[in-house]
Amino acid sequence: MTAPGRPSGPSRPFRIAVLAGDGIGGEVMDAALDVLRAVGDFHFDEQFIGAAAIDKTGVPLPEATLAACRAADAVLLGAVGTGETPADPEAPRPEAGVLTLRRALGLYANLRPVRAFPALSDVCPLKPERVAGADLVVVRELTGGLYFGRRGRTADEAFDTCSYTAHEIERVSRVAFELAARRGPGARVTSIDKANVLDTSRLWRRVVEDLAAREYPHVPVAHLLVDTAAMRLVTEPAAFDVVLTENMFGDILSDQTAAVAGSLGLLPSASLPAPPDPEHGVRRALFEPVHGSAPDIAGRGLANPLGMVLSAALMLRHGLGRAAAADAVESAVDTALRRGVRPPDLGGSATTADTTRAVLTAL
Ligand code: NAD
Ligand code: IPM
Ligand code: MN
Repeated sequence: MTAPGRPSGPSRPFRIAVLAGDGIGGEVMDAALDVLRAVGDFHFDEQFIGAAAIDKTGVPLPEATLAACRAADAVLLGAVGTGETPADPEAPRPEAGVLTLRRALGLYANLRPVRAFPALSDVCPLKPERVAGADLVVVRELTGGLYFGRRGRTADEAFDTCSYTAHEIERVSRVAFELAARRGPGARVTSIDKANVLDTSRLWRRVVEDLAAREYPHVPVAHLLVDTAAMRLVTEPAAFDVVLTENMFGDILSDQTAAVAGSLGLLPSASLPAPPDPEHGVRRALFEPVHGSAPDIAGRGLANPLGMVLSAALMLRHGLGRAAAADAVESAVDTALRRGVRPPDLGGSATTADTTRAVLTAL
């Protein structure tokens, strides 16, 4: 959770690996880079990932991209994917680029903050009285579970396995409890599982309970089954603070909680690595919006760049130790929304460039 700091050199610019990816990835990345240039001195190292990398090199995560990420102070990612499922199941998949990168950088904890924006109460799909005061963070386990389990396929059968070790559960749970411990009054952890059915969830629940009792006795902890949680996250989002869950549940629930903010285009995320160790040295964190490449609107200047801009703010705070700059960017987004900028996903007609300009003006 602590910023790694600069590995060398007294005042060189931060080195950021910039992976725009596909679809609207490049459009929202341009916005984030403009905002970063307004708050600091950065060297941007642009690299391919996803379908763009497959077109260029045949693989979704080229060696050069991974090397640039390892050499950077932090990584910014737009989005990958074409939205198409290739007829040939053996064909390289853009999404494999981001999955391989998460594993390679050891990014096991994905923080997805979601809050109600008072300025958006008129466009939010949920009733204002339901979302008022909502301010939660989904802590999604990111390198285990169904995404990385044993899998197989024949012509007429396929399987994916969900497996977790106690170690994998405990380290991501610790991130959630540490976060809650710093969030002040009202802080609590809600762990979401399917312990009435799944063995992995029973282990998950036991490990969370043991860790809570042993190391965080002052942080209230509750357990919810994922189906109930899905309902309560949209009917009473303000009842949640830190939401801890496994990889697949976290993927689904975090898109769902976008309804609390007002649109998927608003949600940022931070993927945090294990602390430094002798084998890997200092590891780099990655920052990306929760949304995907949105092929349905790509190339038309319609994308909401705020999820990407807020991901850059998370990078300033969690990746580079620049909390004041992060606060400034987040306030500028609030101000721009308060002054009325509305891209199409929020019911308006502001282009990506208009929305970016509104943030820069507020800065
Ligand atoms: P998506 O998140 O790309 O889009 C879902 C809907 O939300 C679409 O209607 C889209 O127009 C809208 N939307 C998303 N981001 C927006 C933004 N910033 N501004 C305005 N509207 C926005 O999900 P999808 O359509 O299911 O997936 C498209 C592709 O993206 C797939 O290939 C998928 O695998 C990939 N994907 C990638 C990532 C990632 O790179 N981290 C995340 C999710 C999906
Ligand atoms: C996300 C995306 C990815 C995921 C895909 C693109 C592999 O949906 O970052 O939420 O499922 O983790
Ligand atoms: Mn997702």
